[in-house]
Amino acid sequence: MSFGRARRADFLLDPQLTYLNHGTVGVTHRDVLATQRAIVEEIESNPARFLLRELADPQGDLDGEPRVRQAMVPIARFVGTDPDDTVFVDNITTAANAVLRSVPLGSHDEVLVTDLGYGGVSNAAAYVARRAGATLTTVTMPWPAVSAASYVESIAAAITSRTRLLVVDHLTATTALLLPLADIAAACHDRGVAVLADGAHVPGNVPLDIVALGVDWYAANLHKWAFAPRSCGILWCAPHRQADLHPAVISWGLDHGFTAEFDLPGTRDPSAWLAAPAGIDVLHGYGVDAVYRHNHQLAWWAAGTLSERWGTPFVTPESMIGSMVTVQLPASAGDDPRGVQQALHDQRIEVPVMARDGALWTRVSAQVYNDAADIETLADAVAAL
Ligand SMILES: Cc1ncc(COP(=O)(O)O)c(C=O)c1O
Repeated sequence: MSFGRARRADFLLDPQLTYLNHGTVGVTHRDVLATQRAIVEEIESNPARFLLRELADPQGDLDGEPRVRQAMVPIARFVGTDPDDTVFVDNITTAANAVLRSVPLGSHDEVLVTDLGYGGVSNAAAYVARRAGATLTTVTMPWPAVSAASYVESIAAAITSRTRLLVVDHLTATTALLLPLADIAAACHDRGVAVLADGAHVPGNVPLDIVALGVDWYAANLHKWAFAPRSCGILWCAPHRQADLHPAVISWGLDHGFTAEFDLPGTRDPSAWLAAPAGIDVLHGYGVDAVYRHNHQLAWWAAGTLSERWGTPFVTPESMIGSMVTVQLPASAGDDPRGVQQALHDQRIEVPVMARDGALWTRVSAQVYNDAADIETLADAVAAL
Protein backbone atom coordinates (compact mmCIF):
# COMPACT_ATOMS: atom_id res chain seq x y z
CA MET A 1 0.00 0.00 0.00
CA SER A 2 1.52 3.32 -0.98
CA PHE A 3 0.62 6.38 1.06
CA GLY A 4 0.71 10.07 0.20
CA ARG A 5 -0.76 11.58 -2.98
CA ALA A 6 -2.00 8.17 -4.14
CA ARG A 7 -4.41 8.03 -1.19
CA ARG A 8 -6.09 11.39 -1.88
CA ALA A 9 -8.69 9.63 -4.05
CA ASP A 10 -9.86 7.68 -0.99
CA PHE A 11 -11.25 10.95 0.43
CA LEU A 12 -13.50 13.71 -0.88
CA LEU A 13 -10.90 16.41 -0.15
CA ASP A 14 -10.65 19.23 -2.69
CA PRO A 15 -7.63 18.16 -4.83
CA GLN A 16 -6.32 21.76 -4.85
CA LEU A 17 -5.93 21.82 -1.05
CA THR A 18 -2.79 21.14 0.95
CA TYR A 19 -4.64 19.56 3.85
CA LEU A 20 -2.47 19.31 6.97
CA ASN A 21 -5.32 19.63 9.46
CA HIS A 22 -6.65 16.10 9.86
CA GLY A 23 -6.57 16.43 13.64
CA THR A 24 -9.11 19.22 13.93
CA VAL A 25 -12.29 17.48 12.81
CA GLY A 26 -11.02 14.43 10.90
CA VAL A 27 -11.63 13.61 7.24
CA THR A 28 -14.03 10.75 6.59
CA HIS A 29 -13.02 7.96 4.19
CA ARG A 30 -15.18 7.34 1.11
CA ASP A 31 -15.84 3.70 2.10
CA VAL A 32 -17.04 4.77 5.54
CA LEU A 33 -19.36 7.38 4.06
CA ALA A 34 -20.77 4.69 1.75
CA THR A 35 -21.38 2.41 4.73
CA GLN A 36 -23.05 5.26 6.59
CA ARG A 37 -25.30 6.00 3.59
CA ALA A 38 -26.31 2.34 3.42
CA ILE A 39 -27.18 2.40 7.13
CA VAL A 40 -29.31 5.53 6.65
CA GLU A 41 -31.19 3.76 3.84
CA GLU A 42 -31.66 0.69 6.00
CA ILE A 43 -33.07 2.89 8.76
CA GLU A 44 -35.43 4.62 6.35
CA SER A 45 -36.81 1.31 5.11
CA ASN A 46 -38.58 1.02 8.48
CA PRO A 47 -37.52 3.79 10.86
CA ALA A 48 -39.78 2.78 13.73
CA ARG A 49 -38.56 -0.82 13.72
CA PHE A 50 -34.91 0.21 13.46
CA LEU A 51 -34.93 2.96 16.05
CA LEU A 52 -37.34 1.40 18.56
CA ARG A 53 -36.73 -2.34 18.22
CA GLU A 54 -33.24 -2.88 16.79
CA LEU A 55 -30.97 -0.01 17.74
CA ALA A 56 -30.70 -0.11 21.53
CA ASP A 57 -32.20 -1.86 24.52
CA PRO A 58 -32.68 0.79 27.23
CA GLN A 59 -35.19 -1.28 29.21
CA GLY A 60 -33.73 -4.76 28.70
CA ASP A 61 -36.65 -6.14 26.69
CA LEU A 62 -35.24 -6.75 23.18
CA ASP A 63 -34.71 -10.29 21.92
CA GLY A 64 -31.47 -9.90 19.96
CA GLU A 65 -28.22 -7.99 20.50
CA PRO A 66 -28.96 -4.26 19.90
CA ARG A 67 -27.19 -2.74 16.88
CA VAL A 68 -25.30 -0.23 19.03
CA ARG A 69 -23.87 -3.07 21.11
CA GLN A 70 -22.95 -5.05 17.98
CA ALA A 71 -21.11 -2.01 16.58
CA MET A 72 -19.17 -1.57 19.82
CA VAL A 73 -17.51 -5.02 19.61
CA PRO A 74 -14.84 -4.19 16.96
CA ILE A 75 -14.35 -0.71 18.42
CA ALA A 76 -13.66 -2.07 21.90
CA ARG A 77 -11.24 -4.62 20.45
CA PHE A 78 -9.38 -1.80 18.68
CA VAL A 79 -9.01 0.39 21.79
CA GLY A 80 -8.36 -2.39 24.32
CA THR A 81 -11.57 -2.38 26.32
CA ASP A 82 -14.48 -4.66 27.16
CA PRO A 83 -17.51 -3.62 25.05
CA ASP A 84 -19.68 -3.78 28.19
CA ASP A 85 -17.55 -1.04 29.74
CA THR A 86 -17.62 1.19 26.65
CA VAL A 87 -20.35 3.39 25.17
CA PHE A 88 -20.68 5.57 22.11
CA VAL A 89 -20.96 9.33 22.53
CA ASP A 90 -21.20 12.06 19.91
CA ASN A 91 -17.91 13.67 20.91
CA ILE A 92 -15.52 14.33 23.78
CA THR A 93 -17.56 17.27 25.04
CA THR A 94 -20.57 14.99 25.60
CA ALA A 95 -18.44 12.37 27.34
CA ALA A 96 -16.65 14.87 29.57
CA ASN A 97 -19.90 16.52 30.61
CA ALA A 98 -21.32 13.14 31.61
CA VAL A 99 -18.32 12.30 33.79
CA LEU A 100 -17.92 15.76 35.29
CA ARG A 101 -21.57 16.02 36.24
CA SER A 102 -21.47 12.55 37.82
CA VAL A 103 -18.55 13.17 40.18
CA PRO A 104 -19.80 14.32 43.61
CA LEU A 105 -18.08 17.58 44.51
CA GLY A 106 -18.37 19.75 47.60
CA SER A 107 -17.21 23.25 48.40
CA HIS A 108 -13.94 21.98 49.89
CA ASP A 109 -13.04 19.98 46.79
CA GLU A 110 -10.73 20.87 43.95
CA VAL A 111 -10.71 19.84 40.28
CA LEU A 112 -7.48 20.04 38.28
CA VAL A 113 -7.29 20.81 34.57
CA THR A 114 -4.12 21.69 32.66
CA ASP A 115 -3.14 24.66 30.54
CA LEU A 116 -2.55 22.28 27.62
CA GLY A 117 -6.12 20.92 27.85
CA TYR A 118 -8.95 21.48 25.37
CA GLY A 119 -10.87 24.66 26.18
CA GLY A 120 -14.37 23.23 25.76
CA VAL A 121 -13.66 20.44 28.24
CA SER A 122 -11.96 22.80 30.70
CA ASN A 123 -15.06 24.99 30.50
CA ALA A 124 -17.24 22.01 31.43
CA ALA A 125 -14.97 21.39 34.44
CA ALA A 126 -15.18 25.07 35.39
CA TYR A 127 -18.97 24.90 35.20
CA VAL A 128 -19.36 21.88 37.50
CA ALA A 129 -16.81 23.28 39.94
CA ARG A 130 -18.63 26.62 40.01
CA ARG A 131 -21.99 24.97 40.66
CA ALA A 132 -20.57 22.90 43.51
CA GLY A 133 -18.68 25.84 45.00
CA ALA A 134 -15.52 23.79 44.40
CA THR A 135 -12.16 25.15 43.23
CA LEU A 136 -10.91 24.75 39.67
CA THR A 137 -7.13 24.86 39.41
CA THR A 138 -5.25 25.01 36.12
CA VAL A 139 -1.89 23.24 36.27
CA THR A 140 0.88 24.99 34.35
CA MET A 141 2.52 22.33 32.20
CA PRO A 142 6.01 22.49 30.68
CA TRP A 143 6.14 23.90 27.15
CA PRO A 144 7.99 23.27 24.94
CA ALA A 145 8.30 19.66 26.06
CA VAL A 146 11.75 18.36 26.88
CA SER A 147 10.88 15.26 28.92
CA ALA A 148 7.81 13.11 29.54
CA ALA A 149 8.64 12.78 33.24
CA SER A 150 8.30 16.54 33.78
CA TYR A 151 4.54 16.25 33.08
CA VAL A 152 4.06 13.69 35.83
CA GLU A 153 6.05 15.91 38.20
CA SER A 154 4.00 19.04 37.35
CA ILE A 155 0.72 17.27 37.97
CA ALA A 156 1.87 15.50 41.14
CA ALA A 157 3.15 18.81 42.53
CA ALA A 158 -0.23 20.48 41.93
CA ILE A 159 -2.25 17.89 43.89
CA THR A 160 -3.43 18.95 47.33
CA SER A 161 -5.42 17.18 50.04
CA ARG A 162 -8.54 18.76 48.49
CA THR A 163 -7.97 17.48 44.94
CA ARG A 164 -10.63 14.97 43.82
CA LEU A 165 -10.28 14.83 40.06
CA LEU A 166 -7.78 15.51 37.28
CA VAL A 167 -8.90 16.11 33.70
CA VAL A 168 -5.96 15.58 31.36
CA ASP A 169 -5.37 15.14 27.63
CA HIS A 170 -3.65 11.93 26.55
CA LEU A 171 -2.47 13.66 23.37
CA THR A 172 -2.66 17.40 24.00
CA ALA A 173 -4.98 19.60 21.99
CA THR A 174 -3.03 22.29 20.15
CA THR A 175 0.44 21.31 21.35
CA ALA A 176 0.14 17.67 20.12
CA LEU A 177 2.16 16.03 22.90
CA LEU A 178 1.70 12.40 23.84
CA LEU A 179 1.70 12.55 27.64
CA PRO A 180 2.80 9.66 29.92
CA LEU A 181 -0.79 8.96 30.92
CA ALA A 182 -0.22 5.68 32.78
CA ASP A 183 2.39 7.37 35.00
CA ILE A 184 0.13 10.38 35.52
CA ALA A 185 -2.76 8.10 36.50
CA ALA A 186 -0.56 6.16 38.93
CA ALA A 187 0.67 9.39 40.57
CA CYS A 188 -2.93 10.60 40.92
CA HIS A 189 -4.22 7.33 42.35
CA ASP A 190 -1.37 7.23 44.88
CA ARG A 191 -2.78 10.55 46.13
CA GLY A 192 -6.46 9.53 45.98
CA VAL A 193 -7.28 11.56 42.84
CA ALA A 194 -9.51 10.18 40.06
CA VAL A 195 -8.50 10.70 36.41
CA LEU A 196 -10.63 11.58 33.40
CA ALA A 197 -8.48 11.22 30.28
CA ASP A 198 -9.29 13.10 27.08
CA GLY A 199 -8.04 10.95 24.22
CA ALA A 200 -9.67 13.00 21.46
CA HIS A 201 -6.74 12.45 19.09
CA VAL A 202 -5.59 9.01 20.13
CA PRO A 203 -7.50 6.11 18.44
CA GLY A 204 -5.88 5.60 15.03
CA ASN A 205 -3.10 8.10 15.78
CA VAL A 206 -0.97 5.93 18.08
CA PRO A 207 -1.55 2.38 19.40
CA LEU A 208 -4.05 2.43 22.26
CA ASP A 209 -4.79 0.03 25.13
CA ILE A 210 -7.19 1.98 27.34
CA VAL A 211 -7.52 -0.49 30.22
CA ALA A 212 -3.73 -0.71 30.61
CA LEU A 213 -3.53 3.05 31.23
CA GLY A 214 -5.23 2.70 34.63
CA VAL A 215 -7.42 5.81 34.40
CA ASP A 216 -10.98 6.02 35.76
CA TRP A 217 -12.66 7.29 32.59
CA TYR A 218 -11.30 7.58 29.05
CA ALA A 219 -13.08 9.62 26.38
CA ALA A 220 -11.97 9.43 22.75
CA ASN A 221 -13.09 10.55 19.33
CA LEU A 222 -13.29 8.04 16.50
CA HIS A 223 -14.14 10.71 13.93
CA LYS A 224 -10.63 12.14 13.92
CA TRP A 225 -7.98 9.43 13.37
CA ALA A 226 -10.15 6.28 13.29
CA PHE A 227 -12.00 7.43 10.15
CA ALA A 228 -15.50 7.20 11.67
CA PRO A 229 -18.10 9.66 10.41
CA ARG A 230 -18.65 12.73 12.58
CA SER A 231 -20.23 12.64 15.35
CA CYS A 232 -18.66 9.55 16.86
CA GLY A 233 -16.68 9.11 20.02
CA ILE A 234 -16.50 6.65 22.89
CA LEU A 235 -16.46 6.76 26.66
CA TRP A 236 -14.86 3.94 28.62
CA CYS A 237 -15.63 3.74 32.34
CA ALA A 238 -13.80 1.59 34.89
CA PRO A 239 -16.27 -1.02 36.21
CA HIS A 240 -16.15 0.31 39.79
CA ARG A 241 -17.18 3.79 38.58
CA GLN A 242 -20.15 2.75 36.43
CA ALA A 243 -22.88 2.81 39.08
CA ASP A 244 -22.28 6.54 39.62
CA LEU A 245 -21.94 7.54 35.97
CA HIS A 246 -24.93 8.94 34.07
CA PRO A 247 -25.16 10.68 30.70
CA ALA A 248 -25.58 14.46 30.82
CA VAL A 249 -28.90 13.88 28.99
CA ILE A 250 -31.06 11.37 30.87
CA SER A 251 -33.46 9.18 28.88
CA TRP A 252 -35.19 5.77 28.95
CA GLY A 253 -32.18 3.83 30.16
CA LEU A 254 -32.07 5.44 33.62
CA ASP A 255 -31.24 2.83 36.27
CA HIS A 256 -30.99 0.04 33.68
CA GLY A 257 -27.20 -0.10 33.76
CA PHE A 258 -24.26 1.74 32.26
CA THR A 259 -24.64 0.83 28.58
CA ALA A 260 -28.45 1.07 28.65
CA GLU A 261 -28.22 4.63 29.97
CA PHE A 262 -25.93 5.81 27.15
CA ASP A 263 -27.06 3.73 24.16
CA LEU A 264 -30.28 5.66 23.45
CA PRO A 265 -30.00 9.38 24.25
CA GLY A 266 -33.39 10.14 22.66
CA THR A 267 -34.22 10.10 18.95
CA ARG A 268 -31.17 10.98 16.85
CA ASP A 269 -29.32 9.77 13.78
CA PRO A 270 -27.27 6.74 14.91
CA SER A 271 -25.57 6.19 11.53
CA ALA A 272 -22.20 7.61 12.56
CA TRP A 273 -21.96 5.25 15.54
CA LEU A 274 -23.06 2.24 13.49
CA ALA A 275 -20.63 3.04 10.66
CA ALA A 276 -17.66 3.37 13.04
CA PRO A 277 -16.57 -0.27 12.53
CA ALA A 278 -16.10 0.55 8.82
CA GLY A 279 -13.46 3.10 9.89
CA ILE A 280 -11.60 0.37 11.75
CA ASP A 281 -11.90 -1.82 8.62
CA VAL A 282 -10.26 0.97 6.60
CA LEU A 283 -7.36 1.11 9.05
CA HIS A 284 -6.93 -2.67 8.84
CA GLY A 285 -7.21 -2.50 5.05
CA TYR A 286 -4.31 -0.02 4.92
CA GLY A 287 -2.45 -1.99 7.60
CA VAL A 288 -2.76 -0.34 11.02
CA ASP A 289 0.96 -0.51 11.79
CA ALA A 290 1.83 0.83 8.34
CA VAL A 291 -0.50 3.80 8.94
CA TYR A 292 1.07 4.55 12.33
CA ARG A 293 4.53 4.28 10.77
CA HIS A 294 3.82 6.50 7.76
CA ASN A 295 2.03 9.16 9.77
CA HIS A 296 4.57 9.27 12.59
CA GLN A 297 7.57 9.32 10.25
CA LEU A 298 6.04 12.15 8.24
CA ALA A 299 5.16 14.15 11.37
CA TRP A 300 8.66 13.67 12.77
CA TRP A 301 10.24 14.60 9.44
CA ALA A 302 8.00 17.69 9.35
CA ALA A 303 9.24 18.70 12.81
CA GLY A 304 12.87 18.58 11.68
CA THR A 305 12.30 20.07 8.24
CA LEU A 306 10.04 22.95 9.27
CA SER A 307 12.07 23.97 12.32
CA GLU A 308 15.25 23.94 10.24
CA ARG A 309 13.70 25.89 7.34
CA TRP A 310 12.14 28.43 9.70
CA GLY A 311 15.11 28.65 12.06
CA THR A 312 13.04 27.86 15.16
CA PRO A 313 13.92 25.48 18.00
CA PHE A 314 12.37 22.02 18.25
CA VAL A 315 13.23 20.15 21.44
CA THR A 316 10.39 17.65 21.95
CA PRO A 317 11.52 14.00 22.23
CA GLU A 318 10.28 11.74 19.42
CA SER A 319 8.55 9.49 21.97
CA MET A 320 6.12 12.34 22.72
CA ILE A 321 5.08 12.74 19.08
CA GLY A 322 2.41 10.67 17.35
CA SER A 323 0.94 11.63 13.97
CA MET A 324 0.82 15.38 14.65
CA VAL A 325 3.47 17.88 15.57
CA THR A 326 3.42 21.51 16.70
CA VAL A 327 6.22 23.69 15.36
CA GLN A 328 7.12 27.31 16.07
CA LEU A 329 6.82 29.76 13.15
CA PRO A 330 9.63 32.19 12.37
CA ALA A 331 9.42 35.72 13.81
CA SER A 332 9.10 36.95 10.21
CA ALA A 333 5.56 35.51 10.17
CA GLY A 334 4.53 38.28 12.60
CA ASP A 335 2.38 37.98 15.70
CA ASP A 336 -1.17 37.75 14.33
CA PRO A 337 -2.31 34.11 14.20
CA ARG A 338 -5.51 34.92 12.32
CA GLY A 339 -3.64 36.91 9.71
CA VAL A 340 -1.15 34.08 9.13
CA GLN A 341 -3.93 31.52 8.99
CA GLN A 342 -5.81 33.62 6.46
CA ALA A 343 -2.68 34.07 4.33
CA LEU A 344 -2.25 30.28 4.28
CA HIS A 345 -5.93 29.72 3.51
CA ASP A 346 -5.57 32.13 0.58
CA GLN A 347 -2.90 29.75 -0.74
CA ARG A 348 -5.21 26.80 -0.13
CA ILE A 349 -3.17 25.46 2.79
CA GLU A 350 -5.23 24.18 5.72
CA VAL A 351 -3.39 24.14 9.07
CA PRO A 352 -4.21 25.67 12.45
CA VAL A 353 -2.07 28.59 13.63
CA MET A 354 -2.04 29.74 17.24
CA ALA A 355 -0.24 32.13 19.54
CA ARG A 356 1.44 30.78 22.66
CA ASP A 357 4.12 32.26 24.93
CA GLY A 358 4.73 35.24 22.67
CA ALA A 359 5.26 33.20 19.49
CA LEU A 360 3.15 31.69 16.71
CA TRP A 361 2.89 27.93 16.24
CA THR A 362 1.30 25.60 13.75
CA ARG A 363 0.08 22.06 14.37
CA VAL A 364 0.77 19.80 11.41
CA SER A 365 -1.24 16.59 11.04
CA ALA A 366 0.25 13.72 9.01
CA GLN A 367 -2.33 11.37 7.53
CA VAL A 368 -2.19 8.64 4.87
CA TYR A 369 -3.05 11.17 2.14
CA ASN A 370 -0.12 13.46 3.06
CA ASP A 371 3.48 13.31 1.92
CA ALA A 372 6.67 15.37 1.99
CA ALA A 373 5.42 17.64 -0.79
CA ASP A 374 2.64 18.94 1.50
CA ILE A 375 5.21 19.80 4.16
CA GLU A 376 7.42 21.55 1.58
CA THR A 377 4.42 23.59 0.42
CA LEU A 378 3.80 24.75 3.99
CA ALA A 379 7.50 25.41 4.59
CA ASP A 380 7.75 27.64 1.51
CA ALA A 381 4.50 29.50 2.17
CA VAL A 382 5.46 30.40 5.76
CA ALA A 383 9.01 31.31 4.81
CA ALA A 384 7.65 33.74 2.20
CA LEU A 385 5.29 35.54 4.62
C1 LIG B 1 -7.85 17.24 23.43
C2 LIG B 1 -9.13 17.54 22.71
N1 LIG B 1 -10.31 17.28 23.31
C3 LIG B 1 -11.48 17.49 22.68
C4 LIG B 1 -11.51 17.97 21.39
C5 LIG B 1 -12.77 18.17 20.65
O1 LIG B 1 -13.89 17.96 21.42
P1 LIG B 1 -15.21 17.48 20.70
O2 LIG B 1 -14.97 16.12 20.20
O3 LIG B 1 -16.24 17.51 21.74
O4 LIG B 1 -15.48 18.47 19.60
C6 LIG B 1 -10.32 18.27 20.74
C7 LIG B 1 -10.36 18.81 19.36
O5 LIG B 1 -9.48 18.95 18.64
C8 LIG B 1 -9.11 18.06 21.42
O6 LIG B 1 -7.94 18.35 20.83
